[in-house]
Formats: sequence, C-alpha cells, structure tokens
Amino acid sequence: MDRPAWAPDEVDITRPSVARVYDYYLGGSHNFEADRRFAEQVLAALPEMATVAQANRSFLRRVVRHLCAQGITQFLDLGSGIPTAGNVHEIAAATCPDPRVLYVDNDPIAVVHSRALLADDDSTEVLAADLTDPARILEAPLTRTHLDLSQPVAVLLVSVLHFVPDAADPAGIIRTFADATVPGSHVVVTHASDEGGHAGAHLAEKVYNRDQSPNPMRMRSSSELRSLFGELELLEPGVVRIPLWRPESPVGPEAQGYPGLAAVARC
Ligand SMILES: C[S@@+](CC[C@H](N)C(=O)[O-])C[C@H]1O[C@@H](n2cnc3c(N)ncnc32)[C@H](O)[C@@H]1O
Repeated sequence: MDRPAWAPDEVDITRPSVARVYDYYLGGSHNFEADRRFAEQVLAALPEMATVAQANRSFLRRVVRHLCAQGITQFLDLGSGIPTAGNVHEIAAATCPDPRVLYVDNDPIAVVHSRALLADDDSTEVLAADLTDPARILEAPLTRTHLDLSQPVAVLLVSVLHFVPDAADPAGIIRTFADATVPGSHVVVTHASDEGGHAGAHLAEKVYNRDQSPNPMRMRSSSELRSLFGELELLEPGVVRIPLWRPESPVGPEAQGYPGLAAVARC
C-alpha cells in the first residue's frame, strides 16, 4: 500500500482509525484501504451510517450557530477529526465576530491535516492530545494562549464520547472541562446509541468492538448520557435524537429511531 506524502511515518496505515473511517463516511479523501474495508463492514451493519454522519454535521452547524447567537465565540472542539466542509471554524467564521477555535485530536492524520489546512488561519489552532487527560489539554500553553478561559467557551464532544469507555470516566472528563470554564460556557455532546433496540446500531457497535479493534465503542442510552452531565443544566429539549435537537426544518418520524443522541448543557 502506497503511503501518501501527507501521512506521517508513525501512522500504521494498515490498521483502521476512527478519524479516517469517519472521513470516509463523509466522502473525504484522507483514508486508506484498511479504513475503507472497516467502514464497509459498518455500512453493511448500518446502511444509513453515512447519513448519520451527515446528520451529525448538520447538528454541528445548528449548535455552533445557536451558541454564536448566545454570544459565544470560543470553541474547544475535542475529538475534532479530519476537517471537511462545514467544520467548526468555518461555521463560526460565517456566524460570529472574531471566533477562536481550538481543535484537539489524538489521531496523527487528523492533527497533521488540520494544521496544514489551517496554517494561514490565525483564529484556529490544533492541539495533538488525548481528551481523556483533560488537565493536559487545559494546561497546554496553546490552550492558554489561544483561548481566554475567563470568557465563556463551548466545549464540543461531538461523536467522540462513545469511544471513551466507562473506565476512563467520561462524566469526570465533562466535569473537569465544565469546572475549568466560566458561567455561560456550554458543553455539547452527540453520542452513538442503540436505544430502542436499534438492530443496525447494535451490529455496528459489534464491528467496532471486534478483537484488535483500535477504537472500541461504548454506545449509551439517554439516561446514561444524561448522567454524564452530572448536575449541569441541559438546554431544551434535553437529551434527544440528534435530528430533533432544535431542527431548522420539519423532521420526519424516522428521527425517533435515529441511532444517535444529542444534548447541550449550560455551565
Ligand atoms: C467520529 S470522529 C468525529 C469528528 C468530529 N467531532 C465530527 O463530528 O465531525 C471522532 C474523532 O475523535 C477522535 N478521538 C477518539 N478518541 C479520542 C481521544 N481519546 N482523544 C482525542 N480524540 C479522540 C478520533 O481520532 C476522531 O477524529
């Protein structure tokens, strides 16, 4: 398999990564044969997976616009992925004055590609870090220079917490980031879920959890997701299927069975 110039040497391109698999669902070009093979297995289990990824992007657009309208201009995007059209910095730039975005990911391809794409964009920086170590992210010099934590920040955990096992304390991760921000900040989460007995989602989770999987998945129910927020107050409509979080156009009945949840808390 040929290694393109943009792929760092330390990246094992024979093993799938969730960042590159997600890039494939979204029609991107930063993925390899191993990613595409893996993605096709997920698509066989859950044929609507590409639509699910797109709905997640639509949610991102709605929520960033909503937060900008609340006066928030700073975004800490944890598990930001490989940038593709409609990323947070683009939505924010089109919506609010002088936005600041810090992308954080632990996938080398996501980091390298984000840095290359954003080299000339002073409003957006990229940090290579693992979100299960919030202290490292919060104390990183780049976080301190790029974001002003004395002002409200939106902490985004979009389509990533299902890769964080219970043992890594996802509730504690949310609490640590929320505690580090000032009142008026927000925490945004979308999360895979097979709630309601979604057979395709259940099968897709199994694909992610096969032996040797580099990114095991832990789907969660509405009540489990609610409990990750602890005492934080959720914005209306609370924990809902992703397309039902403040939709901008009519949503069909199929959204009730959608295999992903969304919730936004105010700190
Ligand atoms: C499904 S993608 C979602 C990307 C983006 N948030 C979006 O919605 O388009 C999940 C991303 O989270 C990253 N990720 C997974 N676990 C992580 C961790 N522990 N720390 C930082 N990033 C992580 C993956 O590398 C991947 O880029």
